Order: sequence, then C-alpha cells, then structure tokens
Amino acid sequence: MTDRAEEPDPVPDDHGFPWLLAPLEVGPVRLANRMVLGPHGTGMAVGGSFDEAAMAYIEARVAHGVGLVVGEAHHVVPIAGQTYPNGDASTDACIEPLRRMADLCRSHGSRYVGQLYHEGRARMNSVDGSRELAVAPSALPDERFHIVPRAMTTDDVRAMVANFGTAAGRMAAAGVDGVEVLVGMGYLHAQFLSPRTNLRTDDYGGSPEARQRFLAETLAAIRDAVGPDRMVGFRIVPEDHDPDGLRLEDSVPACVAMAEAGLCDYVSVALGGTHTLSGTVEIVPSMFVGAAAVRPTARAVRSALADCARPVPVLAGGRINQPQDAERTLADGDADAVVMVRAFIADPAFAGKVRDGRADDVRACIACNQACIGHRPSGHAVSCIQHPETGRELAYGSLAPADPSRRIAVVGGGPAGMKAAAVAAARGHDVVLHERARRLGGQALLAERLPGRAEFGGIVDNLAREVAAAGVDVRLGSDATVDDLATDGVDAVVVATGASPTLPDPSWTEGARVCTAADVLDGTAEVRAGERVVVADWRCDWIGPGVAEVLRTDHRCHVRLCVNGEALGQSLQSYVRHQLAGRLHAAGVEVSTYLRLVGADADTAYLQHVITGEPVVLDDVDLLVVSGAPRSRTDLLDGLAAASIEVHGVGDCLSPRTAEEAVLDGLKVGAVL
Ligand SMILES: Cc1cc2nc3c(=O)[nH]c(=O)nc-3n(C[C@H](O)[C@H](O)[C@H](O)COP(=O)(O)O)c2cc1C
Ligand code: SF4
Repeated sequence: MTDRAEEPDPVPDDHGFPWLLAPLEVGPVRLANRMVLGPHGTGMAVGGSFDEAAMAYIEARVAHGVGLVVGEAHHVVPIAGQTYPNGDASTDACIEPLRRMADLCRSHGSRYVGQLYHEGRARMNSVDGSRELAVAPSALPDERFHIVPRAMTTDDVRAMVANFGTAAGRMAAAGVDGVEVLVGMGYLHAQFLSPRTNLRTDDYGGSPEARQRFLAETLAAIRDAVGPDRMVGFRIVPEDHDPDGLRLEDSVPACVAMAEAGLCDYVSVALGGTHTLSGTVEIVPSMFVGAAAVRPTARAVRSALADCARPVPVLAGGRINQPQDAERTLADGDADAVVMVRAFIADPAFAGKVRDGRADDVRACIACNQACIGHRPSGHAVSCIQHPETGRELAYGSLAPADPSRRIAVVGGGPAGMKAAAVAAARGHDVVLHERARRLGGQALLAERLPGRAEFGGIVDNLAREVAAAGVDVRLGSDATVDDLATDGVDAVVVATGASPTLPDPSWTEGARVCTAADVLDGTAEVRAGERVVVADWRCDWIGPGVAEVLRTDHRCHVRLCVNGEALGQSLQSYVRHQLAGRLHAAGVEVSTYLRLVGADADTAYLQHVITGEPVVLDDVDLLVVSGAPRSRTDLLDGLAAASIEVHGVGDCLSPRTAEEAVLDGLKVGAVL
C-alpha cells in the first residue's frame, strides 16, 4: 500500500504544491524540495567535461530552485571516440569540471548527483567510424543496434565493478553529493538483471540473486569510494519492453534486495529500454505516450520498498511535464520525488514558477522530441522548439532592453511571428501583431489535428501567453498590407507570413481528384468513405503518415502511403518515427518508400522509384493526397523591401522549415530589433 497516510511538513505559501515543495531526506542528504532535474546528455559535455555553455545551461535552471540535479551519464571506461559528446569519468580530467558543476548547484541551494554507466552491448559510439567491440553478460544480439557482443569473463565483470568504484571515487573527489548508477534503459546493469540477456552460469547469472550480484557489487564499490556522507542510488526501468525481458517480478525484488542490504539510499524509476525499437520509444517518450506514464511502475517499486526492512525513497520520472501531474505523483504515493528532464528543457523557470504560485505560467513540454533528444544524433546542444534560448544561454540568456524603444509591426501570428513579437515587446518595443485568421497559431493549428498530436497545440497556447505577458497588441482578422504599414508609420516590420501547401502542376494530374494534406485536415477536401487513396509524401515528416492515418481510421479508406525517402517520417526524431510506423501498421495503411510522384489521371497514380528510375504505377486510385514541398509567401517581404521600409523575415516565408526554426528565427530577430 503506497497511498500516503502522512502529510508533508507544512511549507509556508505552498500554492497548492505541498508535496513538491516539501524537503526530502535521501540517505545522509537533505533536499530542499522534491523537484529533480533529471539526468540528460546535453550535448555540451565537450571532450567529456563541461564548458561554459554547459554551466550556463544548468545555472539557468538551478537558479530557480531545483531540489536535486542528477548529471548526465558518465562513462567509467575510456572510449576513444564518441558519436555523442557525453560525460566521461574514466580519467581524473573529470574532477575539476564536476567540482565546478557541483559547487554551482550547491550555490543555488540544490544538490548534485553524478551518474555513471556502461552501455554494454548497446554500443553506439565508435573509435574511428568502425564498430567497437561491445561486451555484455552473454553473447546475445540486440534488436536496436544489431550488435552481437562478446560475453564478459568473470574477471571482466570484476574489473568492471572496480571501474565503477574508481569513477565514483573521482566524482567524490570532485565533491558531488552523490553517485547514481544508470541501470535502466537496457544498459549493462540491466543486461545483467534481465533473464533474457543474462544466460551466464557463473556467480553472475543463473538465479535472480546471481543476476543481481553485478549491481550489488557495483553499489558496494561505489559506497566504498564515496563514503557514508554522500547519496548512492541507481536508476532502473522495471519493465523494459524486451520480449521475456525485465519485468516487475525480477526488477522489484532487485530494488528491495539492494535497499535491504543497505546498498542504496534511493531508487530512481524511469521508462524505456534500448534492446528493442519498441523499448526505445519510451526512453524519451513522445506525445504518443500518455502523460506521467512512469507512475504505475514507480508505484509498484515504492509499494514493495515501503514494506521492506529498510525502505528508501523512490524518485520517478518519465513524461511528467506539468506541476500538477508531478504533485499528484507524490500526493498519491507513487514516488517521493519527481525527476523531470524535458519539463526543465522547455521551461528553465519551472521550479520557480511552482514555488512562486505561477504554476499556470509553466511552458509545458509538448513531448515533440524535436530539439531536445532530436539534437542528439547530430551532437548539437539540446534545445527546445518552444524555447530556443535553451542550449543558447550564453547568447540569449538575458536580452538587452530596447534602446531606443521603437514601433514594430509583426505580420503573421504563427510560431515565428509570436516569438518575434513576444521577445521584441519584452525588451521594451511597442509591438503590434497582425494575424489574418481569427486565431493565433498558423500551421501549428493544423498540426494539432493529426492523430495523437493534440498536445502540439500547446506551442500555440504557450507562445500566445508569452505574447500577452509581454504586452503585445494582438490584432486578429487583420490583413496588413504594404500600404497599411507605410501609413501606420512603423519603424520596422517583421514578416512571418509562412508558406502555403502546394499541388503538382495541374497538367501532371489531369482528370485526377487531387488535394493537399492540409485540405484533408481542415475538412475542405471531399473524402468519400471507403474510397481508395494514395498519399504522396515528399515531406517525410509527420503530416503524410498523420493524414494517412486519418484517412484510414476516420474515413475508412484504403490508403497507400508513398514516401519519397528511405523511411516514413525520415526527418523526424527516431522515437517519434517508430511510433508512427507502429500506428500505421496497426491501422492497416500500406507504406512504400523510395517513391517520387510523377503524375496522375482519373484512376491511376504514376510514381517512379527514386533509385532505379523505374515506373511504379498504382491503379484504382480515387483520390490523390499530396504532402508536398510548401511555397514561401514572400509578397509582403518583397513589397516592404521595395517600399524601403525596414523589414525582417522570419520562419517559413524565408524558406519553409519546421516550427523549431520558425521560433528560433523569431528569437533572433526579436533580440536584435
Ligand atoms: C537529451 C536527453 C538526453 C538524455 N540522457 C540521459 C542520460 O544521460 N541518462 C539518463 O539516465 N537518462 C537520460 N535521458 C532520459 C531522461 O532522463 C528521462 O528519463 C526522459 O527524458 C523522460 O523524462 P521526461 O519526460 O521528464 O523528459 C535523456 C533524455 C534527453 C531528452
Ligand atoms: S523540443 Fe519538444 S519535447 Fe523537447 S523539450 Fe521542447 S517541447 Fe519538449
């Protein structure tokens, strides 16, 4: 039973968040509150340690009163090359940067835990582009990276335990408040715990207790290295989505065993597993995964720990993006502290807003995965499509007041225009925002109509709130022309008129019924129930798959999605893409890749294989839906330039890209006007 009998110690002015704001004792350390900035590779650990940008990134968050920071995963053994820049505790070079980071957190009343891990067979890094030798408990292939590891010898296992102890010693020398092992998400310690990936017959496999031994010895080595005055914990994913993999019946007893043996001061529960693609989608769960999805497994762990001889606090995180969800997780007894990552990426001031009674102003993460985890493959710093200041704190952390204050018109109330208007007005300019439609939002309003993507509309609500808070004069239904703006006598105009969906040249599709994906979504296209539809998807983003799903599930059409790329959703973050693939498979949409649309007539769509150039002819087509390249709306931009009015373009009117670039353009222009 985890429902709480007790109440937290009263916190003055808790603004309805008594649990989130309550202090928490974790082993020998007291946390000022229960909001934890969770572990995440920021892409800023240059050469394995933290530079000024990384420090500024963390400071922008801890300055608002986070109880605990868990640092990004640090390697315990040297790896010669890193696909992603990650922390590295395999040499003494980590000590000084970690010392500065831990001191920084403490200077703001927070605490800092260093995280250690070894990925085992989930080896994505390479020395020189060649595949590195991966090790694991057993020589079993994984389904994500398609690696067959080498099975560790018993001596290898003992040496690895020692590596964790040595790395923890470095962290202790740096003055961290604790050390955590990343067990979960399918890394080496999870590979030992799981009956599917550990088929060993030595002391480290064979029975549940033997499979736990590697973790137990690692925690003991860490405790030896860090002493009694620092926290020792581990982060586990109790259900890993691997068929026959780690389940509650193995993971919960492992948590209890570690706690009862006095080996840990806390257990942290997370989501996701790297063994399979279905597990990866929960590592950083997108908006297709329900809010606060971590709660049931956290509850199972906390409930078992509550009944054991030496209960320890449970930290839990995964898809908790709102203060209210975080508070409920604690109040209902599912966890003792809430670990959040993207909530703080999207809103650095999250904790301060909770503390100051401004929880409704939180810019909630919309779980699009675009600019945070979406930046990982390219190795760039994490950012946020809603708040591009994230990861750019040195450049945009504080903006200079407008000098002089000027009259600025922004034309176009999509994400680019809203951001430009909000930033310019917050700096002290007098800003009018003209939007032709009756609602702010632009193309984001269409995006939120796609199946499972309603949360995307949050970007509109959040930016609209920033526009209002900055005092922008918003004029809806206002179609500002060059003449209007010239007559108004504005000092400068920001043009954010976006881009329009396009159709192929009509001569290509004579006799065919053709419409754009936007026409289907906004209801202007006539779609007959049960008809046969081809969706020709040049964009390779979420629109083609989304509209295909709408046609299949809402209109009961027979749908063939023809993608001009190597995979559906090729341009999307992989966890989002995998889930789209799963949804389309479940809906019964037929997907073909490498196809370019070259024409259509009354009942046929003509495509071409983009590699061989061979024709691919699809018969019995009633409707062709095109998700094609948009065309920038440049008329106003060109007209203002010709009229010698100071003009700045932002977003898709310059070149059609995504909401991420639109909002970033808005920031860049709003910051310099
Ligand atoms: C950019 C990024 C990097 C991450 N790196 C780590 C990591 O180093 N260690 C770890 O335990 N989890 C890592 N995670 C997973 C997060 O800790 C967290 O479990 C996940 O983002 C879900 O929580 P959220 O919904 O609060 O974002 C990372 C997540 C993101 C977005
Ligand atoms: S980019 Fe999307 S998922 Fe990432 S923090 Fe921002 S809103 Fe959340």
